[in-house]
Amino acid sequence: MQGFWTLYLIVFYHSNTLETWAGDRREGLCFVPTMGALHAGHLLLVEKAKATGMPVLVSIFVNPAQFNNPEDLAKYPRTTEADLMLLHNAGADAVFLPQAEELYPTWLNGIDLELGGLERVFEASFRPGHFEGVVKVLHRLFSLIQPTDVFFGQKDLQQCLVVEKLIAAHFPKIKQHNIHTARDRMSGLALSSRNRRLSEEGLKRAGAINWALQLALQGTTVAAGLAEALQYLEKNGIEVEYLDVVSLPDMLPTTEIKDGKTAAVFAGYLEGVRLIDNRIYEDIPELPLF
Ligand code: PAF
Repeated sequence: MQGFWTLYLIVFYHSNTLETWAGDRREGLCFVPTMGALHAGHLLLVEKAKATGMPVLVSIFVNPAQFNNPEDLAKYPRTTEADLMLLHNAGADAVFLPQAEELYPTWLNGIDLELGGLERVFEASFRPGHFEGVVKVLHRLFSLIQPTDVFFGQKDLQQCLVVEKLIAAHFPKIKQHNIHTARDRMSGLALSSRNRRLSEEGLKRAGAINWALQLALQGTTVAAGLAEALQYLEKNGIEVEYLDVVSLPDMLPTTEIKDGKTAAVFAGYLEGVRLIDNRIYEDIPELPLF
């Protein structure tokens, strides 16, 4: 006898219907917040969420509050139809597609959150207001949905650390899962929605970021590793905004490398596209193949 499967994906456009659905799932609900333009990295988050056996809700919202550059916001890829298809195939249970007015009603106040210095370094210093915007939208989404588990990609390492602070201060019952960065199998380039703005040649050259981060962690000294990494990025035409080796979870520059407690972090530009990546020391499975 032949059988067939029917998959469903519930799409919520309004917070009131979403709140009712989520309210019936207080015992266990996984939430994956995204800005859409989904790729295998997002699908890995959905896969990890599904592995818990709990229902999985994904949100797609390009959050204007976290963009300090209006051109970057305008160019951010929007591919909702394709995203819904991918989420359907990945087995997500529901998707929330809110409008800005829905998430930012006029009565909404700023969120009081102590970030312990994370608000001053790296992404925060190059993108003023970015984390305030991230915290604002996540506080709103977590309050509406009240998930038990939330999933974030480790590619945005500083964001993961900021979310840890948000959860500890305002949502102590939520369990946060930081999922390893999905990478291109050949080049090791971290998957990102922004990669689709790179040319074929750019995509190949951007692979240098992953190798540079590994070089930074494997020099005879941290300074030597960083110098080698910088040279390698420049040779590949990548304009560096920051490249450093930091201790975790405070993200302060360090000269000491400790397993799981040290990361190399990078942001820069290639073909006018801003890319970020990081490697945590314990992540590196083997010496790079040059
Ligand atoms: O990482 C992202 O895509 C965004 O910063 C997030 C967490 C969805 C908040 O808008």
